[in-house]
Amino acid sequence: MSYFERHRRLRGSTGIRSMVRETTLAIQDLIYPLFVVEGTGVKEEIPSMPGVYHFSLDLLPQEIEEVQALGIPAVILFGVPEHKDHHGSEAYAHNGIVQEATKVVKNMAPDLVVIADTCLCQYTDHGHCGVVEKGKIVNDPSLELLVKTAVSQAQAGADIIAPSNMLDGFVYAIREGLDEAGYEDIPIMSYAVKYASSFYGPFRDAAHSTPQFGDRRTYQMDPANRREALREAQADVEQGADILMVKPAMAYMDIIREVKDNFPYPVAAYNVSGEYSMVKAAAEKGWIDEQKIVLELLTGLKRAGADMILTYHAKDVARWLGGKANE
Ligand code: PBG
Repeated sequence: MSYFERHRRLRGSTGIRSMVRETTLAIQDLIYPLFVVEGTGVKEEIPSMPGVYHFSLDLLPQEIEEVQALGIPAVILFGVPEHKDHHGSEAYAHNGIVQEATKVVKNMAPDLVVIADTCLCQYTDHGHCGVVEKGKIVNDPSLELLVKTAVSQAQAGADIIAPSNMLDGFVYAIREGLDEAGYEDIPIMSYAVKYASSFYGPFRDAAHSTPQFGDRRTYQMDPANRREALREAQADVEQGADILMVKPAMAYMDIIREVKDNFPYPVAAYNVSGEYSMVKAAAEKGWIDEQKIVLELLTGLKRAGADMILTYHAKDVARWLGGKANE
């Protein structure tokens, strides 16, 4: 085009800018992660995640009330059990911590969507996401335990099952298990594309889920790979996933876009613990404007293609968006 275009015409005022804005971040986009622990009277801040707490079940209701009052539509529950063993039995116990927390939340807030993270790493004494035999994470025997976990979470009232283990065939196994148990209406939000990332560091402090030997690189993805992400997503779609998650988010915006463009399914982006803690640390030092940085980051995730965002910033963002922060 040869004529002299004046891009600035559409940037001249708040009103015009809002009319031509292509991406909007909304409270409905947010999913708030919560860490639940056993015992009573516990509301303990996680040192590497300022503003994020461990809650025992008696103190969970006050947090849920706040989440609801802010209009956040969904929470994802992570359990931190007292007792760990080789097969992660607390993950699929009827009175396991996530199962009990789910009942508490659904009881007081039936409309709040409860997503259950389905994994074994917080529950196993070795800290891996599957069964360990002779120092190896074995695939198929792990699936059985993940299915049991998912079914027990659905029984407790979870609205969405979110398997995060990255073993092969986990979506198919869980779909089949849920259907057989009569939960064919419960959607699966699959951690379809989950990288072996250093950004999970603070979460592992919070969830006490650091692997006791080795690392997760035999089941989580190599951060260098893009085309493999499409194979992972494809497999999960074929196995019955309803929502595809990409994790982490900020260093993987190209992957969010790829998944969005290639699959006609809702895409969730997990803005993980390390991403949160970096922002918090810089903000505490006064080096950045936390509100503006967080809104810009999350708007970027939406622009990249995320339909929903799991983020520890959710309560703050809901507060800010409730005001006039979106100008
Ligand atoms: C469990 C799980 C992890 C996270 C969510 N589910 C940790 C891991 O894979 O080591 C990370 C979340 C975060 O860093 O905020 N498999």
